[in-house]
Amino acid sequence: MKFFIDTANLDQIKEAQGLGVLDGVTTNPSLMAKEGITGRENILKHYLDICEAVNGDVSAEVISVDFEGMIKEGEELAALHSQIVVKIPMIKDGIKALKYFSDKNIKTNCTLIFSAGQALLAAKAGATYVSPFIGRLDDISTSGLGLIDEIRLIYDNYDFETEILAASIRHTMHVIDCAKVGADVMTGPLSSIVDLLKHPLTDSGLAKFLEDYKKGN
Ligand code: G3P
Repeated sequence: MKFFIDTANLDQIKEAQGLGVLDGVTTNPSLMAKEGITGRENILKHYLDICEAVNGDVSAEVISVDFEGMIKEGEELAALHSQIVVKIPMIKDGIKALKYFSDKNIKTNCTLIFSAGQALLAAKAGATYVSPFIGRLDDISTSGLGLIDEIRLIYDNYDFETEILAASIRHTMHVIDCAKVGADVMTGPLSSIVDLLKHPLTDSGLAKFLEDYKKGN
C-alpha cells in the first residue's frame, strides 16, 4: 500500500518524507488556499517546492471545468515537473480529459469519486488513479469503505490498472480498513500516518526495558 499525504503544507510533507514511508502527495484547491497559496504563479511555484520535498507522485488539480481549459492547464502542470499527476474532476469533460492525457502517457488522478460507476468510467478512460472520498461518504452515513470494496471487486474482475487512491481519510482506522480491502494507495493528513505507530503497550514495554537495563548497568 502506498502512503500519500493530503496537504499542501511543506513542513508536514517534509516530516512525512523524513519518516521514509512517504510515496507521494495529493493537494486540492482547498488545501492550497488553507496554506495561503493564491495566484497562478505562486501555486505553480508551490507545486515545484512540493516536488523537491518528496520522492513520488504529486497530484495537482486543474481549476477549469471545460475540456479545452483542462487540457491547457493539465499540460502546463505536467510540464512543470516529472512527478506531477494531473488531477481531474469526475465530470463529463473530465472523462474526455482523462482519455486525452492517458493517450499522451500523462499521469492523472480522477477526483471527487463517490460511486462505483464513476470509478468504472474513470478506469475506462485510462485514469492512473481514482480518488474515492471515503470520509465524506461516512459524513453522510454512507459506507466509504464499502465503496472501496466495490471498486476493488470491479477493477479485479477486469484487471484494470487504475489504482484505487482512498482519499478523504480522516484517521488511522480508515487507513487500516482500506489496507484490509486492498486500496492501492491511501492519502490522509500527517496524523493518519504518524498515529499508526502509537500503542500504550509499546510505550510501557519500552519504559520497562529501559528501566531494567539501568538496573543491570
Ligand atoms: O483527498 C481529498 C481530501 O482532501 C478531502 O478530504 O477531509 O476534506 O473530506 P476531506
